[in-house]
Amino acid sequence: MMDDMFRLMQDVRDEPAWRPIPDEVKARLTALLPDKPQDAEAIYGEFLRDVLPYRMGNIHPRFWGWVIGTGSPLGMLADMLAAGMNPNVGGAEHSASYLERQVIDWSKTMLGYPADASGVLTSGASMANLLALTVARNVMAAAAFGVDVRMQGIVGLPRRMRLYCSTETHSAIRRAVEALGLGSESIHSIPVNDHYQIDLTALEAAIAADRAAGLEPYCVVGNAGTVNTGAFDDLAALADMCAREKLWFHIDGAIGAVVAMPPTPAMRALVAGMDRADSLAFDMHKWLSMPFEVGAVLVRSASDHRATFALTPEYLKHAERGLAAGEIWLSEYSLQLSRGFRALKVWMMLKEIGVEKYGRLIAQNIEQARYLTRLVEASPALELLAPTASNIVCYRFTAPGLDESALNALNEELVMRLHEQGTAVPSTTLLKGKLAIRVCCVNHRSRHEDFDLLVQETLRLGGELAVIA
Ligand SMILES: Cc1ncc(COP(=O)(O)O)c(C=O)c1O
Repeated sequence: MMDDMFRLMQDVRDEPAWRPIPDEVKARLTALLPDKPQDAEAIYGEFLRDVLPYRMGNIHPRFWGWVIGTGSPLGMLADMLAAGMNPNVGGAEHSASYLERQVIDWSKTMLGYPADASGVLTSGASMANLLALTVARNVMAAAAFGVDVRMQGIVGLPRRMRLYCSTETHSAIRRAVEALGLGSESIHSIPVNDHYQIDLTALEAAIAADRAAGLEPYCVVGNAGTVNTGAFDDLAALADMCAREKLWFHIDGAIGAVVAMPPTPAMRALVAGMDRADSLAFDMHKWLSMPFEVGAVLVRSASDHRATFALTPEYLKHAERGLAAGEIWLSEYSLQLSRGFRALKVWMMLKEIGVEKYGRLIAQNIEQARYLTRLVEASPALELLAPTASNIVCYRFTAPGLDESALNALNEELVMRLHEQGTAVPSTTLLKGKLAIRVCCVNHRSRHEDFDLLVQETLRLGGELAVIA
């Protein structure tokens, strides 16, 4: 099994970036629950036949869809070791708990976040955002109304609480607010400027208008890397505003918090002010190439963090000595009691790669995005649809005589064909009504020649489709 996986990683460049799943394979994947034991070797044969070839493809050098990390050989082995040890990292006195606390400390250092903050690893940024916004809701409800949401629930809130974020904010924030029972109507979406950053004047006006209308502003969410275009909000200005207005400042840094790591000051400047956030969500299975799933949340006030989630019944009591000892049980900082050993791959990969090389890999992706931007700008048949702020490029194929809806249909079809022919996997998004081919560079296996091929195939397929249209 290990040889097959190493071979795959070594030779993946020669494979298609994606291949469709044939109907007979889909049929086999609906087979009924087995009654009798089966032979492990035969099961592995089925895996090789029906599962492995039809993978997502994100370990391929030309995979740039959504924000999907690429994994790594040592990360894979770490997951195997973690599953072999199989500890429950909810708490207690064993090595995995110490490793997780160590990688949380390392995360604070590498992102420049205060050393006395608390944090936990999560399944990803969706869960990290949910945990952070739960702390924000509880702390701010207590401050504004003296309401203990843990006890009284949100029915105890006398006025609607309001959260502010730009229209470019990821849907994970809305899903978190909805899950917290505050309702998506409690989100005040703020327009963005031409660089897809939150409009600070509009934000200030919205807060004032809501206060005048009797609502209770409690939180601003800033973006360190928006999902559509990779834009960074002005985090320092948001930190100032939140301090002035006494609002919780949360940052969704799922994609971009890690630009704090590269050596270039211009890149680090994108996250200036991040250290002042009350909470920060970020992902390691995206730009840090760690195998799915792993993200993290950091919360400035460790006591607020613990007070939001901790519940210690008798059967989970911390003992003075023995396995049930240990002052910090990570389950008390999260909604999960049983927790896997995600920390091992983080620990191993941060040691193997180190901050400096991670910085160079991140800088390499930003440079590749600029390279692709230049290729797009140099081609009259291609149009750049947003400024390239960091590692995401949005562009489209254009042809004279086609209206906006025809161009949208053409570019959508073009992306499906790129997938189907296995050339490359960009994704799509809509920017100001225009369908964009969206290329997100978090892939450490990509080379310049991969972007050359993408542009070449975009032009070829676009030319073919324009004739039909
Ligand atoms: C900006 C942003 N926030 C949050 C998320 C959700 O992260 P996850 O998929 O790790 O839950 C994503 C995912 O792409 C994202 O791009």
